[in-house]
Amino acid sequence: MSQQDRCEANAGGRLVYAIVQEADVENAMRGCRRCARQLGFSESIVFMVATALVELARNMLYHAAGGTVTINECSRASRWGIELVAIDHGPGIANVALAMQDHFSTRGTLGIGLPAVKRMMDSMDIETVVGQGTTVRACKWL
Ligand SMILES: Nc1ncnc2c1ncn2[C@@H]1O[C@H](COP(=O)(O)OP(=O)(O)O)[C@@H](O)[C@H]1O
Ligand SMILES: [Mg+2]
Repeated sequence: MSQQDRCEANAGGRLVYAIVQEADVENAMRGCRRCARQLGFSESIVFMVATALVELARNMLYHAAGGTVTINECSRASRWGIELVAIDHGPGIANVALAMQDHFSTRGTLGIGLPAVKRMMDSMDIETVVGQGTTVRACKWL
């Protein structure tokens, strides 16, 4: 995804969750659902965005030592949307193209989380440095 695919303006709404245990994932998911509903997304899209957040947050728990998820309201060219930003300082992803393939996992798990996020959101961008961490941004537009 290109820089242009990112949400360019934060319109003010912002929720930040530290993700260090499974309960934090549930809490962030509830905040995400609330925010997406308030923005006016249909229930099926609310479900998709919340599921994307859960996948990103669980990845930070399982593949890094936790991290932070931020939920932003965003706007671009008079469109509104929701942006998820998952930041961790874990091991990073050595091969992003492989990690984006269905059923690729370094942990023997299902390996469908990142590809599902890409399918469910309108844009997705991964910045990662091995040994330093990973930032995933994903947007859904109304
Ligand atoms: N935050 C992360 N930090 C380091 N590696 C990650 C992170 N998120 C994903 N990965 C890598 O990408 C792979 C694919 O992720 P995903 O599609 O969610 O499947 P799964 O979590 O079931 O392994 C993971 O197995 C892991 O190697
Ligand atoms: Mg996963």
